Amino acid sequence: MAEIRELAEDPSTARVFRRFWPYLRPHRAIFAAALLANVASSAAVVGIAPAIGLGVDAVTDGDERRLWWAVALMAGLVLARMVLLRSSEVLLSAAGERTIRGLRDLVVDRLARAPLRFIEAHRTGDLLRRSTGEISDLTLFLRDQLPNLLGFGLTVALTTALLLAYSWLLALLLLALFMPVAIVVVAWFTRGAPRAFGRQAAADATMTATFTETLNAHEALVAPGRPQEWVRRFQGDNDELLRAADRTIAVQSRLELFGMIEGLATAALLLLSVWLVRAGQLSVGTVVVFVVATRNLFESMLTLSGLAGQAQLARTGLARLTDLLDALAPAGRAPAELLTGTELPARGDLVADGLSFGYAEGADVLRDVSVTFPSGDRAGLVGVTGSGKTTLAKLLTGLYQPDVGTVRYGGVDLRLADPDQIRARIVLIPQQVHIITGTLAENLALAPGEPDRAAMERAVELLGLGDWTARLGGLDADVGTRGSRLSAGERQIVGLLRAALVDPPVLLLDEATADLDPDAARRLETAVERLRPGRTLVVIAHRPTTIERLPRIVRVESGRLN
Ligand SMILES: Nc1ncnc2c1ncn2[C@@H]1O[C@H](COP(=O)(O)OP(=O)(O)OP(=O)(O)O)[C@@H](O)[C@H]1O
Ligand SMILES: [Mg+2]
Repeated sequence: MAEIRELAEDPSTARVFRRFWPYLRPHRAIFAAALLANVASSAAVVGIAPAIGLGVDAVTDGDERRLWWAVALMAGLVLARMVLLRSSEVLLSAAGERTIRGLRDLVVDRLARAPLRFIEAHRTGDLLRRSTGEISDLTLFLRDQLPNLLGFGLTVALTTALLLAYSWLLALLLLALFMPVAIVVVAWFTRGAPRAFGRQAAADATMTATFTETLNAHEALVAPGRPQEWVRRFQGDNDELLRAADRTIAVQSRLELFGMIEGLATAALLLLSVWLVRAGQLSVGTVVVFVVATRNLFESMLTLSGLAGQAQLARTGLARLTDLLDALAPAGRAPAELLTGTELPARGDLVADGLSFGYAEGADVLRDVSVTFPSGDRAGLVGVTGSGKTTLAKLLTGLYQPDVGTVRYGGVDLRLADPDQIRARIVLIPQQVHIITGTLAENLALAPGEPDRAAMERAVELLGLGDWTARLGGLDADVGTRGSRLSAGERQIVGLLRAALVDPPVLLLDEATADLDPDAARRLETAVERLRPGRTLVVIAHRPTTIERLPRIVRVESGRLN
């Protein structure tokens, strides 16, 4: 069974912020400053209610001097709140953007180094959602919602403290009315939220994945006999996304119960305070403080409940992103000292020794395969379709790690070699050469080693492809969207040109199809022959003419060599 860790659709959000901390660490100074500004700004908001109370008491006492002090205090607090809140937002945005940029770089870097099996085993759309869309959700959260979440959370805490300080009797009444309901409501929300939001994120990723896959398979899916298949597949996922979204809305609206008790609590508070003022236990100013602060409290609660949904969304996205980062963490590889210690020789025999490999548990595709390709060898690998030729080629080039056995080049186990060095020594031209949207030159630039224009021209010359490139329109010819203007044979020519740019001692060519048009076939054969001198060449041959020309044939039959 191959060595990859599967991604979870709906990974646990438990302690996700703590697991995420290492990525925030580098920006902790800015985050701390933002937090401080946020605390101060919340304190200023909470301070406004007592300032009003002070003013009201000054009026009832007829103390003009104190009234002016109260007014000045109020104005100062309002101003301070504005400045502090803004600074906190600016600082959090700055820290958030830096964190996100770092994350994007990290995700792309890890994906670029990911084992081929990992990429193959996951849907592109899912990887795409995790590494772009969900990071953007996180950006929005850090920039827009986190300042509010902190601000309102602090306002609730400080207001409660203030109320307790002013009149513990009224404050306790408020708490007694409010706390039990609040606890029940929050518990109800937290019970449903992780699943609901996780399901929504998974449905979103599935939809993106199906969308990209069906779009790429457009040609096949709109073919006669399969009308509307494209739309049907998409609709299925879209319906699931709608159901998941309805569920998250339902879970989120649980928090709106907070609003219902606001009126009740305020009424009870007013009744009790009228009674307390009459009994001479409370000043009118204190009552005003209470009414203003209670409104503050409930409004903050309501806003917080709205933000809780956003926070859950961010938590879910973060959990899925952390899952991806963890799955790709460079643990489990050979230790760094081993990698740096094992230099791959420039030339050598390519030896497979007792290889077994399976894509799934208990279903080996290759069993105990041993084969040697001496330096300079020229051999063909043949076998019926599905017999495991491509799989063997990927093992021989270090793209897959065998479950059992070793692949050695010049005596060095590929597992211990630096992947960059393997790529420079052993090149596989795959059955389906990957072409990006752009020019021929841009496609050739994907070869390792940043080849320049002159090198590309030399490679074209070397392989005798001058007439082909000229007919295409030169190196700057547009090859169409994902290479739509190139035939299967021409794609392999691009693969061969890339290989020529790397100039590797070992070349494996996985022939595209059995039925290339004669022109393309001849051109490809000539190019291969011109590239071959001095190199080891292994051709996975599908076409009889290729097989005839090869001096040695290795036959793969249901996972074994004959
Ligand atoms: N990424 C994959 N995940 C799971 N199974 C796979 C994967 N790739 C190939 N297989 C399975 O492994 C077996 C060998 O496939 P492989 O592509 O190596 O065959 P092949 O000999 O190259 O065939 P062809 O001549 O058609 O190119 C097949 O049964 C195939 O279904
Ligand atoms: Mg194959």
